[in-house]
Amino acid sequence: MKATLVACALSLFCTLVGGASTFSNPLRTRNGSDPFLVYVDGYYYLMTTTWRDLQIIRAKTLEGLKTGESKTIYTMANPKPDGNDVWAPELHKINGTWHVYYSQDRFSWVLTGGPTPWGEYTNNQRVHEEWGIDGTVAEIPGWGHYYVFSCERDELQSLCIATMNNATSVGPISLLSQPLEPWERVEIPVNEGPAPLHHGNKTWIAYSASFCKTPDYQIASLLWDGESDPLEQSSWKKSDGPLFSSANGNYGTAHNFFFTSPDGTEIWNIYHATQNSSGSCGSDRQTFAQKVNWSADGSPDLGIPVKAGEILQAPSGE
Ligand SMILES: *[C@@H]1O[C@H](CO)[C@@H](O)[C@H](O)[C@H]1NC(C)=O
Ligand SMILES: *[C@@H]1O[C@H](CO)[C@@H](O)[C@H](O)[C@H]1NC(C)=O
Ligand SMILES: *[C@@H]1O[C@H](CO)[C@@H](O)[C@H](O)[C@H]1NC(C)=O
Ligand SMILES: *[C@@H]1O[C@H](CO)[C@@H](O)[C@H](O)[C@H]1NC(C)=O
Ligand SMILES: *[C@@H]1O[C@H](CO)[C@@H](O)[C@H](O)[C@H]1NC(C)=O
Ligand SMILES: *[C@@H]1O[C@H](CO)[C@@H](O)[C@H](O)[C@H]1NC(C)=O
Repeated sequence: MKATLVACALSLFCTLVGGASTFSNPLRTRNGSDPFLVYVDGYYYLMTTTWRDLQIIRAKTLEGLKTGESKTIYTMANPKPDGNDVWAPELHKINGTWHVYYSQDRFSWVLTGGPTPWGEYTNNQRVHEEWGIDGTVAEIPGWGHYYVFSCERDELQSLCIATMNNATSVGPISLLSQPLEPWERVEIPVNEGPAPLHHGNKTWIAYSASFCKTPDYQIASLLWDGESDPLEQSSWKKSDGPLFSSANGNYGTAHNFFFTSPDGTEIWNIYHATQNSSGSCGSDRQTFAQKVNWSADGSPDLGIPVKAGEILQAPSGE
């Protein structure tokens, strides 16, 4: 209680002195791929792909993440020479306990932490036994927790979904989406990087389409019909085309996540972008954040990627 009051007083003081809080992109210039962000009790917690370890970076402001406190929670014991070991970490609180889900050697893994994100993570376990990367946890209203990840079906890198028995194991896995449209098949057909999005009683799974090493690596979405079994592919409708694509000197703008502003009133898109117009799957990808707007029909308007260096208003409540 006391700590909260002090924090509020300090942030009010900062607002009065410094005006509205602002930031600029990119938030990370190196090792900025596959960003994940969550705001919990006064801190933004950021995770990105570093390939060799899992790190959490935290700060009280988005701008502060550029020089945030960092904590390595897991290090590969025997990293491979090509360094392509662990990626796409995400923090999820399940029934009161924080977990880090990530990909290692092309399988889905989970580490178990404690009651706050800034804890120790132990008990490394496989979430399921099949080929699967980029796992995320989606809470579907009225249905519970689902694990959504990139799987292989009919030799296509697709999206799959399963109910979670608990934080570390899933039920039967079913197909959610395949890369069948031309804009999901640039160079290699790919659906990956699923990211849940909830707004106005609607639930989407956004995802990344096409091969990362092209400028056409981009974000699309699946909209749940709100009533049918989320395990059925027919309960989800794919967007008519991509929702967010290269612009303003940023290429391959995808593998995103959505986070809520400190005061809970805004939803933000955090994604990676490369300055290489050929696209990139490497650690030159940088971390960007921008606010999501909403169309009159209730669908998300992700806009176009903002320019690097542009001064933006920070998330509401910061
Ligand atoms: C990315 O993170 C890894 C693991 O901590 C580190 O070894 C590497 O130097 C970082 N790369 C860059 C470009 O900072
Ligand atoms: C969370 O707890 C509830 C109530 O005990 C339980 O029904 C549910 O299965 C749990 N969910 C997960 C993912 O562990
Ligand atoms: C999670 O569920 C699986 C399958 O039901 C079970 O084998 C395992 O013991 C459970 N783990 C925990 C921590 O409850
Ligand atoms: C969401 O659903 C609840 C319960 O049905 C309803 O009261 C509320 O108005 C809905 N909100 C929106 C934004 O549609
Ligand atoms: C951009 O990507 C292409 C294709 O992967 C690569 O050959 C080139 O070296 C990259 N350019 C820079 C500046 O990294
Ligand atoms: C959201 O709308 C604001 C105000 O019109 C605009 O400045 C901003 O660029 C929009 N954001 C996106 C992601 O389109």
